[in-house]
Amino acid sequence: MRETRFTLNGKPVSTNAHPMTRLIDVLRDEFRMTGVKEGCGEGECGACSILKDGRIVNACILAIGMIEGCVLETPEGIAGTDRGRAINEGYAEAGAVQCGFCMTGMAVATEALLRQNPVPDEDEIRAAISGNLCRCTGYAMIVDGIKRAATKGSGLW
Ligand code: FES
Ligand code: FES
Repeated sequence: MRETRFTLNGKPVSTNAHPMTRLIDVLRDEFRMTGVKEGCGEGECGACSILKDGRIVNACILAIGMIEGCVLETPEGIAGTDRGRAINEGYAEAGAVQCGFCMTGMAVATEALLRQNPVPDEDEIRAAISGNLCRCTGYAMIVDGIKRAATKGSGLW
């Protein structure tokens, strides 16, 4: 079986999973990255969002064989940083977390946005989370949480 090597939250790792195995399954089952949630399994809901070479992707529609040499960041990796803490605090202050299922994917989308654009306006925030579905909040509190995160984390991105 071919070995696939990549960087996961800053550490070099490898897997012998079949190259067609879904990335979400390898991350959750082999590396215990359970912040990578499975919702639709079809690339539509954003629950499985991660960063691949700094860009947001859906781990449910990528095969492990496609990520040889890539740098991956999961919600767990982001949460452990000062930026991740600013995101969490912003969401908490805004009351943006209801059932919580979408939140790890939203945090990844937030990180991706603020790296590119540390002071986004509302339209830019809504565009950045357009691939992440939330069944609970109506999005207004999430948008508010991202604004608060940008303020709290000012200078970190
Ligand atoms: S579970 Fe991957 S996009 Fe929905
Ligand atoms: S908080 Fe429940 S899906 Fe977003």
